[in-house]
Amino acid sequence: MIFAREGAKVVIGDVNEQGGEQTAAQIEEAGGQAIFLRTDVSRATEVSVLVKTAEERYGKLDVMFNNAGIFPDADASVTDTSEDVWDLVMEINLKGVFLGCKYAIPAMQRAGGGSIINVASFVALVGAATPQIAYTASKGGVLSMTREIAVEFARQNIRANALCPGPVDTPLLRTILSDPVKRQRRMVHIPAGRPARAVEIANAALFLASDESSYVNGATFSVDGGLTAAYVTPE
Ligand SMILES: NC(=O)c1ccc[n+]([C@@H]2O[C@H](COP(=O)([O-])OP(=O)(O)OC[C@H]3O[C@@H](n4cnc5c(N)ncnc54)[C@H](O)[C@@H]3O)[C@@H](O)[C@H]2O)c1
Repeated sequence: MIFAREGAKVVIGDVNEQGGEQTAAQIEEAGGQAIFLRTDVSRATEVSVLVKTAEERYGKLDVMFNNAGIFPDADASVTDTSEDVWDLVMEINLKGVFLGCKYAIPAMQRAGGGSIINVASFVALVGAATPQIAYTASKGGVLSMTREIAVEFARQNIRANALCPGPVDTPLLRTILSDPVKRQRRMVHIPAGRPARAVEIANAALFLASDESSYVNGATFSVDGGLTAAYVTPE
C-alpha cells in the first residue's frame, strides 16, 4: 500500500491468492495501480513471468522487493531439522531471492537502473538459543548474496540492499508472539521492548526503493528496535 501511495505501479507476486488479490484491490480502490499474479518465488518460470508482466504492463521495472519467506515450526535445532525442511526453506527464502534478482536485474538494465531490496533478518547477524537453523542459514545467504549483487552492478545504476528486520508482528511470528512465555523470552532482548509493526519495515523498504537512498548500496539495513546493538536492555 505505501509503495502505491508514493505513486508506484505495483505487481504483487505471492502464493496466497486471496491476500494478493485483496491487496491489489485495496490499492486500486485507493486510486493506485496494482495487479496480482500468483507466483511461487521458488519457481524460475513463475518469477520470470512476474518480471515480464511488470515490464509489459507498466513499461519498465524500477524496484524489486524480494520479501516472501517462510518460517516453519519444524525448522529447529541443527540436530533435529530434517533435510526436507532444510530444502524447503532454502528453496523459498534463498533461491526465491536469487531468482528475483536473476530476472529483475536484466529488466533494470533495460530500464537504466533500479533498486533491489532483499529481506534478510536480524538472525543473519546474531545467533539464537531458540534455533531455526535453516531459516537462519537462508537469511545469512540472502545477506551475502545481496552484498555481491550490490557490488557487481553498482556502475549500472542498480542498487541492492539487505533489509534486516527485528521481530515483526506478522502472521509469520504469530505462534511465538501469542505465547506469553515465548514472547517474553524474545522481547527482553529488544531495547524497544516490543516487536516492529509491519508498516515500520515497509517504511524502510520504501526508503531503500526511493531516490532518497541513492547512495545506499550493499547495506545491511537493520530495522530492529536496537536489538543487534544491545547487550543489556532497559528493565
Ligand atoms: N516477522 C518477523 O519477525 C520477521 C523478522 C525478520 C525477517 N522477516 C522476513 O520478512 C519477510 C516477510 O515476512 P512476514 O513477517 O511478513 O511473514 P508473512 O508470513 O506474513 O508473509 C510472508 C509472505 O510470503 C508468502 N510466501 C510464502 N511462500 C511463498 C512462495 N513460495 N512464493 C511466493 N510467496 C510466498 C506468504 O504467502 C506471505 O504472504 C520474510 O522474508 C521474513 O523471513 C520477518
